[in-house]
Amino acid sequence: MSSYQITQRPRRNRKSAAIRDMVRETTLGVEHLIYPMFLLDGQAKNVPIQSMPGIHRMSQDYILHEIEACMNLGLRSFVLFPAVEDHLKDCMASYGLREDNFYVQTAVAIKKRFPESVLMSDVAMDPYSSDGHDGWVENGEIVNDKTLEILSQMAVVQAAAGFDIIGPSDMMDGRVGAIREALDAGGYSQASIMAYCAKYASAYYGPFRDALDSAPKFGDKKTYQMDPANANEAIREAELDEAEGADFLMVKPALCYLDVILRLQQTSTLPITAYNVSGEYAMLKAAAAQGWIQYDRAMPEMLLSIRRAGASAILTYFAKEYAQSIR
Ligand code: PBG
Repeated sequence: MSSYQITQRPRRNRKSAAIRDMVRETTLGVEHLIYPMFLLDGQAKNVPIQSMPGIHRMSQDYILHEIEACMNLGLRSFVLFPAVEDHLKDCMASYGLREDNFYVQTAVAIKKRFPESVLMSDVAMDPYSSDGHDGWVENGEIVNDKTLEILSQMAVVQAAAGFDIIGPSDMMDGRVGAIREALDAGGYSQASIMAYCAKYASAYYGPFRDALDSAPKFGDKKTYQMDPANANEAIREAELDEAEGADFLMVKPALCYLDVILRLQQTSTLPITAYNVSGEYAMLKAAAAQGWIQYDRAMPEMLLSIRRAGASAILTYFAKEYAQSIR
């Protein structure tokens, strides 16, 4: 059988492992991953989250152990979320502004023990709010500018505790500028801001809201989080956050929004990050538990796709398992 005259044969670049390694366009290392962790007040608490197999809510002692294990794997970046008891929640999220709250105190302890780690905070009212919303609520409405004052104070308290990156996840207008101004006025010009820039009103946050018990008590988040139908609007948000002083722009969730990651990466000179959220984690874990998908291949493929779309770093609950898998 004579062969065809085919000048371009792309398969030549796939013919051996060495050549495939040579032409690979995208890499995925531990340095690209940020590991989200859920904090509890108190001691000796390590409570599994049912809808997120393998992820726990942990008190400070457990968190310090967990971070040490991650650091030994080369995983150095963490984003912390507090699971706050109901009796500490109020309409002003006042617990989130206290310098003695367990969230910022745990950050102090982590930075003391692991100064070379990178700690990112969460700035939003919902973990501390009796309304379960990211902003200040008045007559059933989320009031933008009143929220900015609270978020700015929260950011300053977090920067004072040693957080390296402040992470506003609230989607209020003008919050990056307000937080930047407050940080600079407080003497924290070195604190970075990673803006949740294109954060969509997504169904994929369900397991996270279980973890923090932070679901909205009324309504939904559609007046501040973005409509999943929109992409141009993400560019508008990106331009604003960049002008207001953001150091990183985040797209969230990641998998349904790979096009948005690509568009922001092409239109902004800032590093783009992506949040591979709780529902994305839960879906893969559930399919794997059923034996319906080959987890050890599907997980890195998922993370790689987010990098290929243009994300510099990925916030992902798979971070530790991925770090272990490439040891
Ligand atoms: C709220 C916040 C949410 C997440 C991070 N910060 C949930 C929400 O907006 O209701 C979700 C993260 C995840 O699902 O993994 N400020």
